[in-house]
Amino acid sequence: MVKVKIFDSKEAQSSARKMEEAPAVDAQAFYDVLESRRSVRVYSKAPVPEETMRRCLEAALKAPTSSNLQTWELHWVRSPEKKQLLVDACLGQPAAATAQELVVFVARPDLWKRNNGWMLDHLKASPGTPGKALQYFNKITRIVYNQGPWSVYRPFKWVWFSIRGIKKPTPREPIHAGQMQTWAHKTTALAAQNFMLAVRAEGFDSCPMEGLDSQRVKRLLGLPRAAGITMAVSVGQRAEGGVYGPRFRFDSAHFIHEH
Ligand SMILES: Cc1cc2nc3c(=O)[nH]c(=O)nc-3n(C[C@H](O)[C@H](O)[C@H](O)COP(=O)(O)O)c2cc1C
Repeated sequence: MVKVKIFDSKEAQSSARKMEEAPAVDAQAFYDVLESRRSVRVYSKAPVPEETMRRCLEAALKAPTSSNLQTWELHWVRSPEKKQLLVDACLGQPAAATAQELVVFVARPDLWKRNNGWMLDHLKASPGTPGKALQYFNKITRIVYNQGPWSVYRPFKWVWFSIRGIKKPTPREPIHAGQMQTWAHKTTALAAQNFMLAVRAEGFDSCPMEGLDSQRVKRLLGLPRAAGITMAVSVGQRAEGGVYGPRFRFDSAHFIHEH
């Protein structure tokens, strides 16, 4: 059995690592963006400048990503023909039909191996890469994310993790293709949220949409079966009546638990 140490707290605390200063930030500016982001269902005809879209797309890619493997894709659908097909695939809902721009956030669990290779290339080319980092992408990710064809490693992983887990904390997922989807969707959803907050910070509005036909969207974007549609996000400027009422949330006491 392969002996792997997933996290090394001594290494993590090493004073040899350079300090990255935390710059001062404007908390109020952040909360203004957060509070004013609403899901907009009807947009005005005001166009969204291309540079704005490009900044927001780049902001999306600053989201945290599991193992930094970046198993996401952002498909900005720009051609009028494809846009119309995407609106249809989004069931013709107004948040899509009246949008100025449409971006589909796609989870790509199937590309983890390619990205792992890119990560190793990057680390090998970076002076001073700690051995632990190389070990992580050479060994750990290859055990954790490799499920084999048709998830054949699932029973072996389940037994291994269950036995190991009796004595010590052990990550239990992902051990099959479905959990790989979940894994990639988490990362991709964070990118979508970054994108929507950036859109608001730029003075525009957005709406996340999972009310769509994922098979049609995949076909339109030329994606393989293993790709997952996390959500489409429409962008524009809110029109009169474009926000359907004040924001409503259940009492936070239901959701915030302290232990
Ligand atoms: C994953 C996800 C999928 C959603 N899908 C749709 C959708 O298909 N159509 C839509 O009009 N709104 C959609 N929404 C927006 C939610 O209805 C909205 O976020 C919720 O009502 C809260 O409103 P707020 O975003 O203005 O705070 C979706 C939101 C999320 C997070």
